[in-house]
Amino acid sequence: MILVTGGAGFIGANFVLDWLKGSDEPVLNLDALTYAGNLENLASLQNDPRHVFVHGDICDRTLLDRLFAEHAPRAIVHFAAESHVDRSIHGPGAFVRTNVEGTFTLLEAARAYWSGLPANAREGFRFLHVSTDEVYGSLGPYDPAFTETKTYEPNSPYSASKAASDHLVRAWHHTYGLPVLTTNCSNNYGPCQFPEKLIPLMIVNALTGKPLPVYGDGLNVRDWLYVGDHCSAIREVLARGRSGETYNIGGWNEMANIEIVRTVCGLLDALRPDPAGSRERLITHVTDRPGHDRRYAIDARKIERELGWRPAETFASGIRKTVEWYLDNPAWLANVQSGAYRDWVSRNYAAREAER
Ligand code: NAD
Ligand code: DAU
Repeated sequence: MILVTGGAGFIGANFVLDWLKGSDEPVLNLDALTYAGNLENLASLQNDPRHVFVHGDICDRTLLDRLFAEHAPRAIVHFAAESHVDRSIHGPGAFVRTNVEGTFTLLEAARAYWSGLPANAREGFRFLHVSTDEVYGSLGPYDPAFTETKTYEPNSPYSASKAASDHLVRAWHHTYGLPVLTTNCSNNYGPCQFPEKLIPLMIVNALTGKPLPVYGDGLNVRDWLYVGDHCSAIREVLARGRSGETYNIGGWNEMANIEIVRTVCGLLDALRPDPAGSRERLITHVTDRPGHDRRYAIDARKIERELGWRPAETFASGIRKTVEWYLDNPAWLANVQSGAYRDWVSRNYAAREAER
């Protein structure tokens, strides 16, 4: 089986669902269920024995040692993190704890387990660390896109904590020989994204007639990738990536925030017209994010050259699917907004664990 950390979050849940659609290899899913973890994302796996959920923290070494001993995973896909830049500005401590200390603890537990494996299993073992393009810093309008050799220049507490975790992963490979892979991906969007991030926040606010808060002039640029494409890239890297290497993953789709917001408004206006008029009327420019990186762009030629991976979705197809998913899943959205999804474990999962 594979061990997935953070598999109840946005990308992790999409990854687990995709994985089990394409493979019968079981997933051991370790997630602390912070505000960002939502087991409703995985409701379709409720009675699926291939999905084993463990409610726990990657900082808990005793738990990690027990899970390695009991389940003997052949690989780890490490998503668990604090992931929201604005939250990192208000409370950086949780980011240092989970992203740095948590990754360190997971690396140490993985190293202890891996060292005790027979030679062929040691060779085949992989620790795939899921990271971000934000570690590379901010680009000017004419700078070339980030390659894997770009210097690290993290600017927010979030990106600094992710950069630190990337460095730990690199060092555990160089010093101890742990077979690691690191992926640095651009902005994801798609189903099940918590409505604190730009796209789902805009969808939710637009549907309820609230202001659409655009930071600063709205001309900050991100490279947007549909989450399903991120999941397929991770599967390729896990299967065929070279141990010790880093792979950048991106959508070849740079867009300014204001364009994103207008696109979301246009789709909602077409799919769910508002008698009061176009949602663009709700766009409100607000005070900028402190230290706001101006532009990110990923050069994804290495993963294409070595592994033949390219995104399958265009932005037009991916954003339409995403808006439709939010329109089709009002209960998910209502539970997230009311906080009711946090009762899911007691309402549903506790009973399931008792049966086993
Ligand atoms: P998310 O915030 O939606 O989910 C994070 C998950 O990790 C949650 O389920 C949460 O409960 C869990 N978690 C947090 N702390 C934990 C801990 N101490 N122990 C165990 N579980 C814990 O994040 P996401 O957007 O799905 O991002 C997943 C990973 O991908 C992160 O490492 C992030 O840095 C990286 N990434 C995200 C994006 C993006 O656009 N969202 C882009 C590139 C890379
Ligand atoms: O680049 C990859 C990163 O993308 C990931 O590593 C992070 O986990 C993920 O959160 C994301 O970071 P961003 O800061 O780019 O994403 P966010 O959705 O928070 O913001 C996207 C852009 O939109 C950014 O320029 C800030 C802006 N924004 C965001 C919010 C929430 C607004 O203008 N208004 C908003 O209300």
